[in-house]
Amino acid sequence: MIMNKRFLFSCLLIGSIAANLCGQDKPRVYILATGGTIAGIGASETSSGYIAGVVSVDKIIQSAPEILQLAQIKGEQVVNIPSQDMSEADWLIIAKRVNQLLSQADVTGIVITHGTDTMEETAFFLNLVVKSDKPVVLAGAMRPSTEISADGPMNVYEAVAVAASPLSIGKGVMIVMDDKILSADDAMKTMTTALETFKCPNFGFLGYLWDSKPIFTRNSLVKHTIHSEFDVADVDILPKVAIVYGYAGIDSLFVATAVRKGVNGIVYAGVGNGNPNTANLNALADAVKHGIPVVRSARTPFGPTTQHDEVDDDKYRFSASWFKTPEKSRILLMLALMKTKDYKEIQRMFVEY
Ligand code: SIN
Repeated sequence: MIMNKRFLFSCLLIGSIAANLCGQDKPRVYILATGGTIAGIGASETSSGYIAGVVSVDKIIQSAPEILQLAQIKGEQVVNIPSQDMSEADWLIIAKRVNQLLSQADVTGIVITHGTDTMEETAFFLNLVVKSDKPVVLAGAMRPSTEISADGPMNVYEAVAVAASPLSIGKGVMIVMDDKILSADDAMKTMTTALETFKCPNFGFLGYLWDSKPIFTRNSLVKHTIHSEFDVADVDILPKVAIVYGYAGIDSLFVATAVRKGVNGIVYAGVGNGNPNTANLNALADAVKHGIPVVRSARTPFGPTTQHDEVDDDKYRFSASWFKTPEKSRILLMLALMKTKDYKEIQRMFVEY
């Protein structure tokens, strides 16, 4: 019996040394690649012209070999496209794969490499439909992989550091760019060309990376991931929601066309605090009468779109987007429409998420 115990202990010790040597005790992080500038190739090391979505996931992993010190890495190529071509169908594919992987006990977290142009939309969609509190981190690059001082490798390295860290559990879907950690609900690309383009304009960064380690300075207080009521496990197609962008002098043509084309919902990106002009106020009221829910959002980049300021939302049965930009409002409205068309219920969701 004593011999058996000793033998067992020796086996465990040898097993643990072997696992250490092979890195099997390290967190397991999947990198799902979708394209973007991080996978882009330019004509030269100095030109700013390039084609996004060319380089494969294996090459992205090879560009930051130091990630193998942080985690066991597995790469998957989901799509390889510039993110302006990202579609709702792609979101569903990514969300389902993320949920499948995170349901496995041996998966610690996921990094998704993605073009920066629509990264905040994919991140917000996932924030609402991922059914796990394990970390999901999106990362991209502003410089293509062939440019001098490309930012992709460091962003991937830091994204893996966040995805592999126990500190990241329960934080919701995040974006890691330029040494910052951003929450999906607030992250916004704010400059067309700068490396330091992503900001959290309303609530500030979730945290930073220092010495390759995540340092969190706040939590996102909106509902997300395991607390979200939205589920796309059995969904193949999402409701159609149009955004109409308001400006001085806009006529009602665009709202009327959206209604005629059979959209399921409309987000109106109004001026100031989400205000439509008179022509569009009437057109939006008509849309509601046709059974098409309307969310008022704002083209003003920062701050909430609040209820009942210049517009009597109860009278028109509109909902207001609070801190959601028009493009994030569209995503939340698409998911909300799978459950309800009631403007008060939709309003509750906009306050909670
Ligand atoms: C894209 O979004 O695919 C192009 C721009 C970028 O990744 O920075």
